Amino acid sequence: MSQIDDALPLSALSEIQSRVLDWYAVNRRKLPWRGANDPYAILVSEVMLQQTGVERVAAMYEHFLDAFPTFEALAAAERWQVLRAWAGLGYNRRAVHLHQSARIVVRDHGGKLPSDPTLLRRLPGLGPYTVAAILSFAFQYDVPALDTNVRRVIERLAFGRPVSDATLKATATRLVPAGRSADWNQALMDFGATHCTATNPRCPSCPLADLCAALESDRARAAPTAKKVAERPEPYRGSRRFYRGQIVARLRDLSPEISISADDLLRSLKADPTPADVHWIEELLNELAADGLAQVTRVNGELRVSLPR
Ligand code: ADE
Repeated sequence: MSQIDDALPLSALSEIQSRVLDWYAVNRRKLPWRGANDPYAILVSEVMLQQTGVERVAAMYEHFLDAFPTFEALAAAERWQVLRAWAGLGYNRRAVHLHQSARIVVRDHGGKLPSDPTLLRRLPGLGPYTVAAILSFAFQYDVPALDTNVRRVIERLAFGRPVSDATLKATATRLVPAGRSADWNQALMDFGATHCTATNPRCPSCPLADLCAALESDRARAAPTAKKVAERPEPYRGSRRFYRGQIVARLRDLSPEISISADDLLRSLKADPTPADVHWIEELLNELAADGLAQVTRVNGELRVSLPR
């Protein structure tokens, strides 16, 4: 028998499923994308949630859908319009990818998001997690959507120690209740976000306490499967990503037909630019242009930048 089969006896599966779903029925978060069954709206929410917190996405999501309610509307928009509607969400390349995906869906799939995982993986910006979430929420596939919260919950519950991705995925797959994966995955997301949290799991009031491997080995409190408190992340202010965001924010405020010189842009970012900064901003602008986030032209030897069309 493999370690995978040892992790949770078959008899525990349905007990865990019903306790988690019962917990969810009472404790589910009210989030604006819950209950959406339009694959387009689901794609938008999942791309936003890739790198932006639930509260911020909840504040922006409907505004974006009002601006672009369908694949066709998004595909027909210009890039700068999409970037403007993305303001406040950060990681702007996702907006570019979403826009490109909408154009591919309209051009190649008749405006309908494909339900084939291989075709979904070909859309820009969709990794294995997002594809699994879409398959579950939009197409009712019985697959687990393994985001950070879901991974932690299953790892603690079934193993009580860190396990390989393959082992975790196998157990997560066995746990999905047939026909209820959308509720199930979102239940585990909420459970991980609000109850079985990384640093402060509420074990005394946990509906799974008597089944939990981590609690049994008395290690859940020390959050054994949470990542070690890593080295401090690089400060965001002053980072390359920070300046990329600042530049896109400045461009967003311009009319799309207006350009600004790289020099003026640099002076708006740094009070006393050095010759090295001149080189730095050119490099940054070329990088943004390559990512589809800016349009860079040289006019009479001067580098000028505008929103992408
Ligand atoms: N994170 C990613 N997808 C989510 C969802 N549908 N609900 C809550 N958090 C999420």
